[in-house]
Amino acid sequence: MGSGIVQVTAQAGYSVLFVEANDDLVKRGLSRLRDTLEGLVTRGKLEARVKDEALGRIAGTPRLEDLKACDLVIEAMTENQTLKNETFAKLDRICAPGAILATNTSSCNVTALAAATKRPGQVVGMHFFNPVPLMKLVEVVRTILTEDMAATAATEFVRSVGKVPVQAKDATAFIVNRLLVPYLLDAIRVYEGGLASLEDIDQAMKLGCGYPMGPFTLLDLVGLDTTMYVAEVMFEEFREARYAPPPLLKRMVMAGHLGRKTGRGFYTYDAK
Ligand code: 3HC
Repeated sequence: MGSGIVQVTAQAGYSVLFVEANDDLVKRGLSRLRDTLEGLVTRGKLEARVKDEALGRIAGTPRLEDLKACDLVIEAMTENQTLKNETFAKLDRICAPGAILATNTSSCNVTALAAATKRPGQVVGMHFFNPVPLMKLVEVVRTILTEDMAATAATEFVRSVGKVPVQAKDATAFIVNRLLVPYLLDAIRVYEGGLASLEDIDQAMKLGCGYPMGPFTLLDLVGLDTTMYVAEVMFEEFREARYAPPPLLKRMVMAGHLGRKTGRGFYTYDAK
């Protein structure tokens, strides 16, 4: 998702500096962005000049400290509350006092992130959807500590990158995942129970409900590990059985079948 956020932000005309864990990942990130934009040019979706300008606005670094000149930081790390809390505390020390710190989390506690900083009023959720360049929605999440100015600036930023903002409170899973995750978990339970094949469940929801993809195609896109994490956090928060990750999901995550990103989830994917 980080890569998608960098792409749409650079295409909207902003200078973007992304941080990856090491030099190799920075190189890979840049080459992935170049491939994506060049692919769009080849398919006639983007002018070569626009691609070059967008790439010219993107830089990468392995050092968090290099973010010191940024007005807005959007964190899109793995869904791990402790890691995110530590990172927000560091960002707070690194960034200028006026900078807004946002998180693309789908399930971590935004209030805890705000409380980890000395600028809790300037911490917001900015939850994009997968695949970021194609999905129009961004949930702008405010905590009870968020100042109006930061929420307004975040909302304006979302519009300026061509997305449509909706406002949500910091309550686990916000709007979309609160409704989507129980549906995805139910699909796994239905499959586990032997009602129908993966393909037929996907086909049924696509053609019967007009969804753009069936639940298993979507699970593979979102990532099984991400889905399980969100489900666990929701179960922890609400203590309702419908949010508990089904046994099959847990085992697939243990087996490393995480979806498209590992080449295998409910379906298998070739390298291309
Ligand atoms: N940048 C810009 N454009 C791109 C692109 C990129 N990186 N990649 C592809 N495109 C373009 C393609 O060129 C194509 O253009 P065209 O229609 O003019 O030819 C267009 O985007 C669509 O490409 P596809 O034909 O591959 O895509 P589909 O029409 O099949 O739609 C989809 C793909 C939008 C992903 C659709 O299947 C969909 O909406 N699926 C559901 C996705 C969803 O529900 N996401 C939410 C997941 S939940 C989540 O993210 C929350 C998290 O916190 C868990």
